[in-house]
Amino acid sequence: MGYGETWAKVILMGEHSVVYGYPAVAAPLPSLKMRAWVTPAGLCATSCIRTLKALNYEGSLSAAGDRFGGLECAVKVATEFAGYPGLAFDVVTDSSFPAGRGMGSSAASAGAVIRAILDACDVRASEQEILRLTNEAEVITHGNPSGLDAVTTCSRDIVTFQSGQMQYMRVDMPAYLVIADSGIAGSTREAVGNVRKADEKNHPYVRSVMDELGELALASETDLELGAVNMLGERMNRAHELLSQLDVSHPLVDHLVDVARNAGANGAKMTGGGLGGCLIAFAEDADTAQNISRALLCEGACKAWIHSLSAKSNE
Ligand code: MEV
Repeated sequence: MGYGETWAKVILMGEHSVVYGYPAVAAPLPSLKMRAWVTPAGLCATSCIRTLKALNYEGSLSAAGDRFGGLECAVKVATEFAGYPGLAFDVVTDSSFPAGRGMGSSAASAGAVIRAILDACDVRASEQEILRLTNEAEVITHGNPSGLDAVTTCSRDIVTFQSGQMQYMRVDMPAYLVIADSGIAGSTREAVGNVRKADEKNHPYVRSVMDELGELALASETDLELGAVNMLGERMNRAHELLSQLDVSHPLVDHLVDVARNAGANGAKMTGGGLGGCLIAFAEDADTAQNISRALLCEGACKAWIHSLSAKSNE
């Protein structure tokens, strides 16, 4: 038996533009776990996974349809890396956050399964090697991943990322992120494909939007370093506007973003691939974060989480 663990992430700034080489900033959510257990099941010529049981965050079994190809690939690349090509596994995953909502579920599940297989095979790999293997699995699920999700779903610190290069930031701000799930599953592959088509159709316009998203991501790194809550909130609002112009948001997410702002958020935006999924709102104190969370749940969000950005609560 082997075990592996990763966690959820949210993108603070730079989703979609990061695919085109612009900078992005993402926060890991280590309290929302993705866990994987694997048991060797003998050699198999047709499939690397003999059985797959994917428990979702409400404790029920999820269909895992979309993820199956990515997990097949995760098992394949990990067994090849470990020197056991063709070895099949029984796989169980258990996630405390939803799939298809921009929280990094596919990279997290691939990363957890790869770690579990390396553990079962008693093989050591560097973080860099595990990230490379996770991105190979992500290509199957997402087509053209930037690599940001793979890095953030196993980081303890906020990640700044550009063209495959990452830096880690230990943020210590007396502020909170409220993450809310619209309950609408969005396909990152479809959203990334839509942006690509828009770019082919109207390259100067799409690139001007991305230039600004990239500038916002860079500036937000400084905001995080300085603890500039209001500036960061304003930049989040602008990023949401730009992402809506790229047509990757969703009417319910737009509505919830307004609800969060009216409930006192310094800023709010969609997060991740979009076309549904989650939004994030930024709050200066715990009471405001609670108010935002309550307002979002009253107005149609199906779940909300509060994440502190103070270093102490994330130790
Ligand atoms: C998905 O979480 C974020 C996107 O930017 C895609 C990627 O970075 O691969 C939409």
